[in-house]
Amino acid sequence: MRNLNEDTITQAVLASLSGCGDARLRTVMTSLVQHLHAFARDVKLSEDEWFAAIRFLTAVGHITDDKRQEFILLSDVLGLSMLVTAQNNAKPAGCTESTVFGPFYVEGSPGYENGADISNGAQGQPCFVRGRVLDLAGMPVPHASIEAWQADECGHYDVQTPACDGEHVHRARGHLRTDDDGRFWFRSILAEPYPIPHDGPVGAMLEALGRHPWRPAHLHFMVTAPGCETLITHVFRNGDRYLDSDAVFGVRSTLVADWVPHPPGIAPDGKPIETPYYTLDFDFVLSRAREAQ
Ligand code: BEZ
Ligand code: FE
Repeated sequence: MRNLNEDTITQAVLASLSGCGDARLRTVMTSLVQHLHAFARDVKLSEDEWFAAIRFLTAVGHITDDKRQEFILLSDVLGLSMLVTAQNNAKPAGCTESTVFGPFYVEGSPGYENGADISNGAQGQPCFVRGRVLDLAGMPVPHASIEAWQADECGHYDVQTPACDGEHVHRARGHLRTDDDGRFWFRSILAEPYPIPHDGPVGAMLEALGRHPWRPAHLHFMVTAPGCETLITHVFRNGDRYLDSDAVFGVRSTLVADWVPHPPGIAPDGKPIETPYYTLDFDFVLSRAREAQ
């Protein structure tokens, strides 16, 4: 393996993988090397460009810590996260579609009863969310767990604000269970569009590409129930200006819903409300887990 040139280097690297005992790793690395070399040939990558890419990836690593995952953000804005989500979560027709998880889910959110206000003081116009969890046959899924999380009216998730005494206050996130009829209902705040974190190397890359960092207004959900496949998804707000240019390519038409505005009066919880408010109605249809079918 000497005197390799631009015509023979790819074969030599591929041959070096032949001793790998992990068949899947060999398959993945073989394809990666083939595509990487083909890419460098395709664009005739210069040494300066190669080094700029090394500097960029180094910066992505430097800004990444246990609170900020710039590599996932990079994957998101390149559409890789949505591609991996789509090819691993194909659902039968009629089931609610999945979309990207995003970096702002946290374990250990507060548990609530139906009807509770999960905003817990997050700023935003009141919004009453209601729906059912059903299976593909239209049967209610009782006692399903609904985890919801969203940004406030300034576009910030609770985890993005500095913690007091190291303890984050959970705002506009929580979990609850569907009732015997598969119904859930809670109060939160109106979802608004917000930019993904763009003060780091991924933001600089978007700027260089002439792309904006905005996501259309959405509410995140994770729905789990025994015997059903876990659903990780969002509901997007109809009419949002970013629906067709989501920075992370996560929008699916079936996930777009109307947030209906209402004047002050009697809210869906039966209490008087002095400000305008919104309602969102959305049903989730789960796929029965494959083993259980
Ligand atoms: C989110 O929706 O929370 C999100 C998804 C991908 C990147 C950044 C944020
Ligand atoms: Fe989000």
